[in-house]
Amino acid sequence: APARTAIIAGNWKMHYGPRMASSFALEITPALGKLLNEYPYLLCILCPPAISLSAVREVLDALLFERIELGAQNMHFEEKGAFTGEISPLMVRELCTTVILGHSERRTYFGESDELVNRKAQAALNHGLRPIVCVGERLEEHEAGKTEAVIRSQVQKSLANFRSERACDVVIAYEPVWAIGTGKACPGEDAQRTIHLIRELYADMYGGETANAVRILYGGSVTSANIAEYVAQADIDGALVGGASLKSDFVEIVRKSI
Ligand code: G3P
Repeated sequence: APARTAIIAGNWKMHYGPRMASSFALEITPALGKLLNEYPYLLCILCPPAISLSAVREVLDALLFERIELGAQNMHFEEKGAFTGEISPLMVRELCTTVILGHSERRTYFGESDELVNRKAQAALNHGLRPIVCVGERLEEHEAGKTEAVIRSQVQKSLANFRSERACDVVIAYEPVWAIGTGKACPGEDAQRTIHLIRELYADMYGGETANAVRILYGGSVTSANIAEYVAQADIDGALVGGASLKSDFVEIVRKSI
């Protein structure tokens, strides 16, 4: 058995309202469920828009597949209150196991800082949710050779102050911003180098055992044509898939991760 159970997560972003989400989930989950039943070391997480979570939950509950889980794409850190437009950890927990936090689109378009992402991640852990915390450098930072410095700072701030016994439940997603939605995927060996660095930084923060247990995913233009390149790397434990998770190619990605 591999040391860490791999994760393939699909971030649907702002696609598929409840009706479409339900029919797409019905289309892909039988094949996904069959693959996962045959291979116990892989977990699949679907992350539809918040308004479609219930619809997908109903499909999953009816099919009774294990290891196809549900995740939200964002949430607030407060449990309830006057926060118009937000959803809380308690609400997410009713339907989901997981929540994506600090995606670069949240950071860029909605002003989320490392400090806010960290507060949300702590709230997720306190409520028994698995946070997938995203980090990644922008194109100009990449071109200026600043990848390592940017990642170091994001990791140290976004992933700070977790109660140490919880720190191994966090999932980290390395998504270089220049690779997201561009078709310019980061070469597997480069992703491995940065993800190895993230694991080393995590070891400095929480110790070697925790760093060895934590799952770190790659995200950015992953398809069934390149997934094998990532899952073959020693430190890469799966992928956070955007565009390709909206099509049946997602099933192929899962098949090729086995
Ligand atoms: O969160 C996943 C994402 O940002 C990657 O998107 O479309 O490049 O796979 P995409």
